[in-house]
Amino acid sequence: MISLSKKYLTSIEDLSEDEIRYLISQAIEFKTKKSDNGNNNQILAGKTLALMFEKPSTRTRLSFEAAMYQLGGNTIYLNANDLQLSRGESIQDTAKTISLYVDCLVSRVHSHNTIIELSQNCKIPLINGLSDLYHPCQSLADLMTILEYKKSFKGLTLAWIGDGNNVCNDLLMGCAKVGINIRAAIPEGYEPPQHVLEVVTHESKLKQTDFTIVREPVYAVRNADVVVTDTFVSIGKEKEVDKRKSIFIPKYQVNDQLMSYSKDNAIFLHCLPAKRGQEVTSEVIDGKKSVVWDEAENRLHVQKSLLVSLLI
Ligand code: CP
Ligand code: NVA
Repeated sequence: MISLSKKYLTSIEDLSEDEIRYLISQAIEFKTKKSDNGNNNQILAGKTLALMFEKPSTRTRLSFEAAMYQLGGNTIYLNANDLQLSRGESIQDTAKTISLYVDCLVSRVHSHNTIIELSQNCKIPLINGLSDLYHPCQSLADLMTILEYKKSFKGLTLAWIGDGNNVCNDLLMGCAKVGINIRAAIPEGYEPPQHVLEVVTHESKLKQTDFTIVREPVYAVRNADVVVTDTFVSIGKEKEVDKRKSIFIPKYQVNDQLMSYSKDNAIFLHCLPAKRGQEVTSEVIDGKKSVVWDEAENRLHVQKSLLVSLLI
């Protein structure tokens, strides 16, 4: 087992390529129960994880809670609205307080600045469970799913279709770090932030892989090995719903016609929750290329891997 160089995970940028590969291989061991650290052992006995969430969650909350229970630990779920934080207590004081009682904190927040402040003030490991900018745990599960189906990252091309959002930001950085070629079809004005573009460009150059942003989804999907999309209206963007639907749905929906340009053995990923009929049709998400349920399951395994690496 290796310890991670940083005691927090704010975005996939915090992990080296070796650390990403190690976390995934350990997750695969958890999944296949080959390792001594397989399911139902007590490796995290006596450890407590707090989950402080400002936004709803199904998969992230459930998979972290299940991961802790299956490894012998405990969890405490904190709706941020129920904390004194909602009455003006500072993030700094909240972080210092939480650190007195538990061993690790997963937080889902509106503003990524909150994650940064938590990481600077927590005395315990901190994991970003989704911010407006990043979703590192999702990226790890996505890379694990790609590796399971494709056996190697080498030579693969991933097509991202739609919004340059939090899931996109970390997935693109993760793909670039492990050497996957990237073609992202994103409308003008919805691209990832400059910093993410710089990291992806830099990592792609190091790996001698391709990274391009295009406007036409067909250019991105043609001969792709992996096709990925996410909601066009992330949490916090609800006021833009009409504008976003009119820009995205007619051109950036992943449907059977668009998927037909991908390789015959291509896989389709979506972090879920999906808005069927918007960013993806039911025929695709329920179709033969879709691996979204393996992807969702893998959240459990990568999070076990992450927790063990941060806590042991
Ligand atoms: N993919 C994901 O993070 O799902 P939840 O919002 O349900 O946690
Ligand atoms: N981009 C989505 C991901 C949800 C898991 C959102 O931020 O709402």
